[in-house]
Amino acid sequence: MLRSISELKVEGRRVLLRLDLNVPLKDGKVADDARIRAAAPTVRQLVQRGAVVIACSHLGRPKGGPDPRYTLAPVAPVLAAHAGVNVQFVPDVIGPAAKQAVAEAVAGQVVLLENLRFHPEEEANDPAFARELAALAEVYVNDAFGTAHRAHASTYGVAQFFAEKAAGPLMLAEVSALSRVRDEPERPLVVIAGGAKISGKLETLEALAGKADVLCLVGGLANTFLLAQGLGVGRSLVEPDLVDKAQEILRQGQQRGCRVLLPQDVVVAESLEAARGRTVGVEEVPPEAMIVDIGPQTLTTITAQLSRGTVFWNGPAGVFEKQPFATGTLGIARALAKSQAFTVVGGGESVEAVHLAGVAEQISHVSTGGGASLEFLAGYRLPGLEALEG
Ligand code: 3PG
Repeated sequence: MLRSISELKVEGRRVLLRLDLNVPLKDGKVADDARIRAAAPTVRQLVQRGAVVIACSHLGRPKGGPDPRYTLAPVAPVLAAHAGVNVQFVPDVIGPAAKQAVAEAVAGQVVLLENLRFHPEEEANDPAFARELAALAEVYVNDAFGTAHRAHASTYGVAQFFAEKAAGPLMLAEVSALSRVRDEPERPLVVIAGGAKISGKLETLEALAGKADVLCLVGGLANTFLLAQGLGVGRSLVEPDLVDKAQEILRQGQQRGCRVLLPQDVVVAESLEAARGRTVGVEEVPPEAMIVDIGPQTLTTITAQLSRGTVFWNGPAGVFEKQPFATGTLGIARALAKSQAFTVVGGGESVEAVHLAGVAEQISHVSTGGGASLEFLAGYRLPGLEALEG
């Protein structure tokens, strides 16, 4: 059982708060603040209850040491603005500067530590590093659902050093929404899977093909399935070595009564720089062209599946960052927004599309987890959750 922060005494105590503030930076500024906004209510709640909040996170994948391109410094003012509290950034994790800032912090203050991955010991789940981190606080709260699939020092190793620990509100909301999709979906369960590649999503696709009533495959990921059906995909992104796997998923789906829907029509272009594409049937993709979006017929077919039950969407339907090829992806986002179903969107790009379409408020749950939500749905135990159960 996961404890919630309401069960912890935090007043006047130092709380190590693991957040997932892994956000994209552009020119030293936060380019997408969705994860910061999602983390802010937890910070505010702890501050209002008089805790000393020691917030920590990773950002990006710095290799082996400090790298200014991945500093959490630009995140501090954004977190402060969304939480409505002061946030003091310390350019240190477990060194003297961090220890001093923590020692001087009083109830109601927030200290944000530097990127945990500036220490290679974080990803190595080094016990000595985890102990040092734990020594900064008396209570541990993990609200970093997006990183719950990593057994790192701050998400896993550190927990054993705390007698009092809990899952944060965001973590609990994620677990509740995704459990509803995985364990007790209101039928029909419709899964829309897209994005560039199958690799990385294989286990989830297999697990969901066994559970879903309808599996809609879109985006680059669908190309490998089209190839598996003997169709030409021109110069599109495709994973020929996974054709057998794709066939296996189609077979599994069929055996278990899951309708697998592949694109009937697609938008093709000569290059990603093309000003516009043209719609063709899936049997008519020219050898020199690439598939860049689903076609209108496919969007209509998918939309018709979304009226009720449960819908989970991960991965765009095309190269939606290029405006001419965004119609399918934004169309799915808008269809989800209108749906009466319990709708869950996971994965950075689909979440971005939901915001781009301006419909995030109309989605039942927008997950902060990419890999973590997929692993959770595939049935894996997440180390970040497991560590809180002990
Ligand atoms: C994510 O963005 O999926 C999480 O923050 C985890 O990041 P990672 O894949 O670099 O471990």
